Amino acid sequence: MSKTNNNVRLPRAKGMDMATYYTPKECATKAKRIVLEPSNFQIIEEFISIAGMKEKFESFMVPVPNKMILFGPPGTGKTLTAFYIADRLRLPLILVRLDTIIHSHLGETGSNVRKIFDYAKSNSCVLFLDEFDAIARTRDNNDEVKEMSRVVNTLLQCLDDFGDESIFMAATNLEDQLDQAVWRRFDTKMHYVMPDDDRRHAYIRLLCDDFKLENSSILSRATEIMAGCSFAEIEQIILKAKRKAIIADMPLKLNQIESSLREYNPRSG
Ligand SMILES: Nc1ncnc2c1ncn2[C@@H]1O[C@H](COP(=O)(O)OP(=O)(O)OP(=O)(O)O)[C@@H](O)[C@H]1O
Ligand SMILES: [Mg+2]
Repeated sequence: MSKTNNNVRLPRAKGMDMATYYTPKECATKAKRIVLEPSNFQIIEEFISIAGMKEKFESFMVPVPNKMILFGPPGTGKTLTAFYIADRLRLPLILVRLDTIIHSHLGETGSNVRKIFDYAKSNSCVLFLDEFDAIARTRDNNDEVKEMSRVVNTLLQCLDDFGDESIFMAATNLEDQLDQAVWRRFDTKMHYVMPDDDRRHAYIRLLCDDFKLENSSILSRATEIMAGCSFAEIEQIILKAKRKAIIADMPLKLNQIESSLREYNPRSG
């Protein structure tokens, strides 16, 4: 397990060298600014409310949802949402990098998956597997790679035995390539999309919150010119523009945002 904070006593459990451990406080810092579709916020709020009412749900014999998949294009907030949920639930986030799990040696990948799930079964956390398609691809597609179909079977067992101590989250850009049986195991599914005008405007406003602007109308114009950008791209462009404003020792101007957009994407002409 990689250290993110020297003051934290890190679990030294088996398998945890394949993951990064974030304390709830670190998650709160990461997820300080998040803009989501109202429908996704609603799903998250319900998920969190239910997590706080476990006993009530048990008394009705209705299972508590704890397996969530996030899918959609890059830079739209899937990984950020995992930090946000860990923060809201005051749980540590265990972020698993799949390239460290996938092993060329037959059998090793499945056993790595098992170790990670074993850890989360006995330690309350949000277990987050990013780029989930790397291990959960449909078994029909990769008959030639028998190893991967064994990994999917292991994954299915791990999901079925997961219990209710922790939350499992996964994210992918390639949801149509996921194995159907794996897909069915998720009780909560969230679709991420590129930001529309309202979401872009809200995000640009948040990013410029702490910065002096030439005038407030530049926010609307910036929202227009960044149509088609993801949240992650908007963040990079606004950061570039802020650097220009800092160098010039002046409030942020629209033309600095325009030239940052051009510099960010020089191929677009
Ligand atoms: N919905 C959002 N609200 C606020 N910031 C966002 C949002 N989406 C992305 N960002 C910004 O962009 C960065 C990258 O986003 P994130 O890693 O969550 O994207 P992703 O959907 O997981 O992308 P990928 O599919 O490439 O993994 C975030 O750390 C954050 O700064
Ligand atoms: Mg991501």
